[in-house]
Amino acid sequence: MTLLDGRSNLLTIDGPAGVGKSSVARRVADRLRFFHLDTGAMYRTVTLAALRAGVDASRVSEAALAPVVREFVIGRRMRVGGGGRVWLDGEEVSDEVRGAAVTALVSPVSALPSVRAALVDWQRELGEEEAARYGGVVVEGRDAGSHIFPHARWRFYLDASLLERARRRLRQAAGSVEDPHELTTTMESLAQRDRIDRERAVAPLCVPDGAMVLDTTHLAIGEVVEAICAAVQPAAEPPPPERAP
Ligand code: DC
Repeated sequence: MTLLDGRSNLLTIDGPAGVGKSSVARRVADRLRFFHLDTGAMYRTVTLAALRAGVDASRVSEAALAPVVREFVIGRRMRVGGGGRVWLDGEEVSDEVRGAAVTALVSPVSALPSVRAALVDWQRELGEEEAARYGGVVVEGRDAGSHIFPHARWRFYLDASLLERARRRLRQAAGSVEDPHELTTTMESLAQRDRIDRERAVAPLCVPDGAMVLDTTHLAIGEVVEAICAAVQPAAEPPPPERAP
């Protein structure tokens, strides 16, 4: 049984790096029986394609990426599954795209207008297709509610302090939150990604119009999931039957 009525049920979750979007989006999608579309995984896959084509950090530019992007889109080299699973040229790369090499390069790559233009149409297409198939989609990203689906039925923005996001990142990577050096390095790299994601010219990270903002600094994942599902649920209740005159 789906909880909702099967119309274009799009629910977007945006927020900065390390805030816990993926864990929350996955659980919300499970609860609602929606498809979970992780748009960050798509930017990571283009970045992996660029790395495999020999583009390195010092050469990230429109000119260097143009052939990769053209071939990537025309050849439809990526396949996108639910829950952030991705394939490049038929090979599953879901783990590889979350590794250090891709993470170091993904923000500058995803700031390029040609890369964004190539992926946004693909994301809209996937969102509509999977919403029709599953009854709804949880779309996770940086511009999901502000740019990809500005008319999504539900829009959420998750935030948390930089320190808390660094702690979450380290726990996820089995690093030590007690080690001040590791904590500082992680905070610096998150702050740098935040800056690139917020300051880029096209579809920067921002709070979408009308989004519900949740400061998750002092909330556990389960509490964030509950807050989102509670906000969705009343809207999902079927209207009361009309009374006979
Ligand atoms: O959520 P993530 O860490 O997997 O995202 C990786 C990068 O992709 C992030 O630094 C910014 C970019 N991104 C984006 O620009 N727009 C999106 N909708 C999703 C991710």
